[in-house]
Order: sequence, then structure tokens, then C-alpha cells
Amino acid sequence: MSIPPEDVAALLRWYADMGVDTAIAEEPVDRFAESAVPARSPSPLARPIAEAPRAAEPSPSVPRLATAASALLTATPDAVELAAREQARSARTLEELRDILDRFEGCALKATASRLVFADGAADADIMFVGEAPGRDEDIQGKPFVGRSGQLLDRMLAAIELDRTKAYIANVVPWRPPGNRDPTPQETTICRPFIERQIELVAPKILVCLGARSAQALLGVTEGILKLRGRWLEHEIGGRHIRAMATLHPAYLLRQPVQKRLAWRDFRAIRSALSKD
Ligand code: URA
Repeated sequence: MSIPPEDVAALLRWYADMGVDTAIAEEPVDRFAESAVPARSPSPLARPIAEAPRAAEPSPSVPRLATAASALLTATPDAVELAAREQARSARTLEELRDILDRFEGCALKATASRLVFADGAADADIMFVGEAPGRDEDIQGKPFVGRSGQLLDRMLAAIELDRTKAYIANVVPWRPPGNRDPTPQETTICRPFIERQIELVAPKILVCLGARSAQALLGVTEGILKLRGRWLEHEIGGRHIRAMATLHPAYLLRQPVQKRLAWRDFRAIRSALSKD
């Protein structure tokens, strides 16, 4: 069957509007055909109880849920959040955390992202920057803040004599949301335990949240970024209090360059706090 070119163009436009703007494999995959249940195949749910496979040993241990990827995909949001917290807590090092996150199946964003974007920079840095979620360039390279806003972030770091050998950079959500949409509150809630554990393991002296969504996820605040920015707040983790500040996201500064003066004020305050510690 040949499809008229105008129908193909309309379909591509619809995909773009829906945020489907990246091919994630060489060949198309018909997921409908894959999930279609053959009419005659016996359903495991329809099997008589006596024949049903024995349930796995009951266990209150939540991490077990995580090892069964399919169980997580069908679990309730509360169960996924609990599994995320248990798994994040079980990581003793950043390498372990990265590995656990790479195998975590509880966040649907993993299916549409090309790869995990874990972190960049120095794991022993005194300062940690946390953005919202990776964009297209980060998804391709597997590193946070490497696109246009990342280049601006690098220049802002250089202005206070920092670079990626002296700072640690990550995101609240480590997979790119399709079409660069905002992560949903549920996706943020599921990913939050992992970034919190990352902060705990890096143990920076200063935490900088880039943008409102990062600040809201990590600092328990609800105000907009223009109210929040530039104020010293605290991030409490594992009984430790880390000085934290929210500042304007570099992507926002690219759209609103006149606001760079506010970000510069924040970065000067950060530099002075770092030099006092
Ligand atoms: N914006 C973010 O919040 N994070 C990135 O890594 C890139 C752009």
C-alpha cells in the first residue's frame, strides 16, 4: 500500500507535535503486533489454580521487586517509589548507584531515552550543580549539560574560576523526556531518591539547583525561581546539612539574556561561599 506524501507529512507533523522527534533504533518496531495476544494461546491468568506456578517466596524486601523488571513496570506508583528509595539507598558508591540506575526499570522515560545521563565532573568536588533533565545533546552524548545551555554553564563556571574538574554536575531526572518536555511530577518523584543518594555520596559543601524544577524537587520549596534564586537554603541529607542555592537555569538565560546579571550575582555569592569554606 502506498501512502500519499501529504499523509506522510501530516503523520510526521503529528509525531513532532507529540514530542516524537528522535529515532531510537535503525528499524521501526511494531509494538502493537508484539503485544498482541494470540487468540488461542492459553493465558497464564486463565490456568487452573492447581497448575499455576508457585508464587515466589513472599518477602517484604522491596529491592526484590526491582530485579523483576516486569514487576516494576506494572507496579503502583507508590511501589515504584519505594523500590527506587530502597535501591538508591543500597548503593555504597557512585559507580554502584550508576549501575543500579542503569538497570532500574521503574521510570518510563528510560524506554524513550537513548541512554542514561548520570553525571559529569569531579566526584570529590566541593560544589555540585543539579539541573532538571537531559536534552537532546545530553541524550546523544550521555553527559549532562553538553548542549547550548551546557556551554553557557561552562562559561558561568569559568567566570568564578571553576570547571568540570572542580565541580560535579547531574540532573534530577537522568533520562531525556521525549521532545524535551518537562518531566511529570511522577517521573520526578520516582527519580528523586537517586539524585538524593548521588548528593549524599558526593557530599559537596555547596549544592546549586539550576532552575525552579530542580530547586522544588530538592529543596522542598514551591516559589518561582525569580523569588527563590540567590537565597541560601539548606538541603538536609543523611543528617547532614548542605548549603544550597537555586539560580536561573542556563536555558532560561539563553532566552532571557538580560537576566544574566541576576545569575552573575548568584555566582559571585557562590564563589565567595566556596572561598570561605
Ligand atoms: N538542561 C538540564 O536541565 N540538564 C541538562 O543536562 C541539559 C539541559
